[in-house]
Amino acid sequence: MSRVPVGPLAPSGVLPPDAFLDADAGVSRRAFLTASAMAAIAATLAGCMNASDATAPGVRIPAGVSTTATTTVIDLLTQTALAATTGAYLIIENASRSLIVINIGSNTFRALSAVCTHQGCLIGGMASNVIFCNCHGSRFNATGGVVQGPANASLPSFTATYDGVAKTVTVAG
Ligand code: FES
Repeated sequence: MSRVPVGPLAPSGVLPPDAFLDADAGVSRRAFLTASAMAAIAATLAGCMNASDATAPGVRIPAGVSTTATTTVIDLLTQTALAATTGAYLIIENASRSLIVINIGSNTFRALSAVCTHQGCLIGGMASNVIFCNCHGSRFNATGGVVQGPANASLPSFTATYDGVAKTVTVAG
């Protein structure tokens, strides 16, 4: 195997060991290490794009919803489906306080955290009175209790107040 220098001389005038090209393989040690490092970085980035990260809460405020540091107000004249249908729900994705607000009938609404208590994914939705998380399969009942793990803690609940005059639901907490 013959080796030929491919890099600049070090200040001492001596080529560093990784500045040689393996003429037989055609790849320098530096190029190999650089390629290996890039592959490792790519693999790490790919690992970050798993399901949990992809569905972690961000910010997505539906039409007719306003938020402050302590309250979330839903305008039912805009969110007409939530207003009209028992069992309808609205997910408000608000990073620090994501909520699922459920119409439980008779102008009564329930607000639960929409952040899964397993590893923090945003709740996927609700079907047949079961709230589900798509990340690892946890299920919660309509009051937030765990019905299937791996989550082992209930979804926290918040006070939801209906205003029949203003046609709003205000969630505190
Ligand atoms: S984050 Fe794992 S089941 Fe929801």
